[in-house]
Amino acid sequence: MTLTVRDITKSWGGFRALDGVSFSMESSGLLGIIGPNGAGKSTLFSVVSGFIGADAGSVSLGGAAFDRMGPAARARAGMVRTFQVPREFHHLTVRENLMAAAPGQSGEGLVGLFLRPGRVRAEEVAIRAEADATIDFLRLAPVADTPAGRLSGGQKKLVELGRALMAKPRLILLDEPFAGVNPVLIAEIAERIAVLNARGIGFLVIEHDLDALSRLVPRLVVMDRGRVLAEGAPTQVLLDPAVREAYLGGVAA
Ligand SMILES: Nc1ncnc2c1ncn2[C@@H]1O[C@H](COP(=O)(O)OP(=O)(O)OP(=O)(O)O)[C@@H](O)[C@H]1O
Ligand SMILES: [Mg+2]
Repeated sequence: MTLTVRDITKSWGGFRALDGVSFSMESSGLLGIIGPNGAGKSTLFSVVSGFIGADAGSVSLGGAAFDRMGPAARARAGMVRTFQVPREFHHLTVRENLMAAAPGQSGEGLVGLFLRPGRVRAEEVAIRAEADATIDFLRLAPVADTPAGRLSGGQKKLVELGRALMAKPRLILLDEPFAGVNPVLIAEIAERIAVLNARGIGFLVIEHDLDALSRLVPRLVVMDRGRVLAEGAPTQVLLDPAVREAYLGGVAA
């Protein structure tokens, strides 16, 4: 299945944050997105995941057009995102955070709870088991009962990944999974991502840590000022003079 992003344009006021962005990837693959601050990377994620509408262009997965679908429908179709600033519920425990991210719960409405209490309970048991399996996989078991607001930055990133996994997606969009994370935990998160990828889950990853990202993904898309500047293997694009110049802010490399 292919994720196809075609000619996306998005302006904030008069400012063109995305200016004709196109790329595609296998939904089971690993693709990195890099680029200087303000290049439009997070805006691109918001458009691709359906949190904001594009002014023009299209997004599709496996030939199904996503453009009229909101984030929940895109998640049901197999694609979820995480946020650059983790959006965990501070007062809920890690387990509760993951459980709350499970889609399609009949207990969500009071009516469902009133009409089908047995079904709601069975569903909650299943969701709890799924959350605990995910917590074990992410090695968060020691903090499963800790309020998420008390976790370290790196642990919060893992909770974000865990919340994404609860949707059982085929493709996960990660916005800076390594930002503010210590090197030991970066290696651990990258290793978990690689294991998930070997199981068939694809990842589209925005990162500023080019070393860690280049070790994880075989292909990079470089963005600058709302456009795709270059695309290819990490070793190749990082040596591209145009890419080096974009990162140095116009100073010749
Ligand atoms: N909600 C918004 N309203 C107005 N302008 C916005 C909004 N979101 C982003 N922008 C602007 O769009 C541009 C691209 O922002 P975006 O967050 O996509 O960049 P980025 O590549 O993710 O940067 P960073 O690496 O710093 O996270 C920036 O100039 C930003 O100020
Ligand atoms: Mg960003």
